[in-house]
Amino acid sequence: MENFLWTKDEIEGKIDYNHNVEDFVKNNTWHNLFASTKWILSNPAEEIYDFYKEYMANPSRQILNRTVSNVQKIHDLGCGGGRHTYFFSELGYDVTGSDLSTNAIEYTEQELVRRNLKARLVKCPMTELPFEDGEFDVTISRAVINHSTLQEMKRVIFEVARTTKKGGIFMVTVSSDRASDFRRGTEVVKDLSYIPASGPEEGLIHTFFTGANAAALLEPFFIIDKVFLAEHPSLITADGCTDPDEYFGSEYVIIGIRR
Ligand SMILES: C[S@@+](CC[C@H](N)C(=O)[O-])C[C@H]1O[C@@H](n2cnc3c(N)ncnc32)[C@H](O)[C@@H]1O
Repeated sequence: MENFLWTKDEIEGKIDYNHNVEDFVKNNTWHNLFASTKWILSNPAEEIYDFYKEYMANPSRQILNRTVSNVQKIHDLGCGGGRHTYFFSELGYDVTGSDLSTNAIEYTEQELVRRNLKARLVKCPMTELPFEDGEFDVTISRAVINHSTLQEMKRVIFEVARTTKKGGIFMVTVSSDRASDFRRGTEVVKDLSYIPASGPEEGLIHTFFTGANAAALLEPFFIIDKVFLAEHPSLITADGCTDPDEYFGSEYVIIGIRR
C-alpha cells in the first residue's frame, strides 16, 4: 500500500538509509546521558501503562478481531534504562529489550538482577534487528525512532513489521510538530528534521510529524488503530529535568495492528 511517504520499492525493503552503525553510536547522546543515572526513569510512561491496560490486560479483547489473542513475546525497542522491560517482565511476559547503547544495556542488566526479573537484552541498532520474522506478538518503542532521519525511520518500521507477527501490535511514539524543539537548531530537511543546538539532546537529529504523517509512516504494514498526542511539560521528570518554561514535549502515539 503506497502512500506519500512510501514508494513501492521501499515497502519491499529497498530503502536508501544510512547503514553506518558508527554514525548512530557517535550521534547517540542518550548513550552519554545514560552514563549518569540521573536521566534514567524507573516508572513506566503513562502511555505505555494505558496501552497495556487497553490492549493487553484483558486477553479476550481483540481489537477489530485482528490482534493476536495470546500475547507472550514483547520487544521493547530502544529500551534505554529498561523501565518498560521491567514493567512487562514483572507482569510475566517474555520480554526482549534492545538498544544501541552499552550503557543502557549494562544498566538494565544489573537492574534486572537487582529486581530479580528475567528478560533478554540485545545490543543492536534499530535499523538492523537480529530477530526472526514474526518473532514478537507486541513491539513497543517509546521516544526512540524519531532520533533519526525519515529514511532511517522507514527502515526501522520495515524491521519492526518483519519481526512482529501478523495480528501483532506495534505501539510507537514519534515527536510531534507541537513540541518546543520543532524547527529549533539546524534544519536538516525543511519542516521535518532538525538538530538541536542546545539542551540534553544537543546534536541529535529529530524528525517531527503531523498526525497524518505519523499514521502514514506505519500504514503500509499496520492497520492504524489509534493516533493520539501525549504531551509532557518537560523532557524528563527526574532530577535531570530541563526547564519546563523552555521545553514542551509532544509526541504522537501510534498503535497499529500488523497486516
Ligand atoms: C529517550 S531514550 C528512551 C528510552 C526508553 N524507551 C524509555 O521510554 O524510557 C532513547 C533510547 O533510544 C536509543 N537509541 C537511539 N538511537 C538508537 C538506534 N539507532 N538504535 C537503537 N537504539 C537507539 C538510545 O540509546 C536510548 O536508550
